[in-house]
Amino acid sequence: MSSENQISEQSVNQAVSDALALIASAVDLDSLRAVRSAAIGESSAIAKLNAALATTANDQKAAAGKLVGQARAQLNQAFSSAEEQFYAVAAAAKLAAEAVDMSAVINTIPVGGRHPLSLLQDEISDVFVGMGWQIAEGPELESEWFNFDALNFDADHPARAMQDTFFVEPASAHLVLRTHTSPVQIRSMLERELPIYVLCPGRVFRTDELDATHTPVFHQVEGLAIDKGLTMADLKGTLEHFAKIMFGEEAKIRLRPSFFPFTEPSAELDVWHPGAKGGARWVEWGGCGMVNPNVLLACGIDPEVHSGFAFGMGIERTLMFRNDVKDMRDMVEGDVRFTQHFGMVL
Ligand code: FA5
Ligand code: MG
Repeated sequence: MSSENQISEQSVNQAVSDALALIASAVDLDSLRAVRSAAIGESSAIAKLNAALATTANDQKAAAGKLVGQARAQLNQAFSSAEEQFYAVAAAAKLAAEAVDMSAVINTIPVGGRHPLSLLQDEISDVFVGMGWQIAEGPELESEWFNFDALNFDADHPARAMQDTFFVEPASAHLVLRTHTSPVQIRSMLERELPIYVLCPGRVFRTDELDATHTPVFHQVEGLAIDKGLTMADLKGTLEHFAKIMFGEEAKIRLRPSFFPFTEPSAELDVWHPGAKGGARWVEWGGCGMVNPNVLLACGIDPEVHSGFAFGMGIERTLMFRNDVKDMRDMVEGDVRFTQHFGMVL
């Protein structure tokens, strides 16, 4: 038996301090496990001293056994407390890595948002519904009769060519893509009871080139009121109220004499828009007038008893003036960044 395996206070202390140094050298659970065998396992000095008890003289066995036993207990204790400590550190690190922040804003997949034109269309409808008006609709593929004839456009009147029309084949069907929302005036007068207060927002089509202020597919909002005793003053008051809601309290409107076959007198409607960048200015917003008696007659309404006013403006133009959009093309491209610009949450 080699002298180092002799059980003595010195050899036991040496074994203990070597093993404690090994345990202390560990930095985590893995490195602690790696020194386990050398510190307290089969190949450790203390295990060898323990084995030496078998060959220790009987009269020294009790004292040697106590010495080695205490040392083993001390080392096992040191090892398990180191192990416990590393467990706690590893568990804390794992928890931190797997932590879920319930208050975090999650990155959802964008699903798109409503187009600013649709939102504006709804907002306009709300203004009129708030005044007791009804919303009316008509087809986009419209008969030529509703789009032109019933609105008092002569068959060869230049006004029929004034709004550049998409005629739909076969020509014998006399169908057009409606060039304005005014055919809904006729539909409303034929279908509804008097008095009539209707608003018709909708899509219209013209063979216009796409540029900064025109698009071949755009939106209009048509208004029609038929009642006893309605005058130009009612038209003006309604439009002033609408303009102030759209463009602010300082907004003003101006009616310039113009011509539409379905209104008499007719006017171009300009709005003075205080908020526009580059200073306040007058801009053409739409057309309006008192419903032509010929149109009332064509719809079976007695012009001696009832009178009415109508107006129609572009929704794209409204959005341009209101939000200072420089180029109408941005509205039709469908780029979601344009929509986000209007504060739309996706
Ligand atoms: C009309 O369409 C008439 N129906 C308006 C009307 C209704 C008059 C009721 C009287 C009574 P006009 O062609 O001017 O009128 O068009 C009205 C508005 O539509 C224009 O002022 C403009 O705001 C808008 N608009 C016209 N063409 C385009 C286009 N290509 N792109 C975008 N907006 C347009
Ligand atoms: Mg016009």
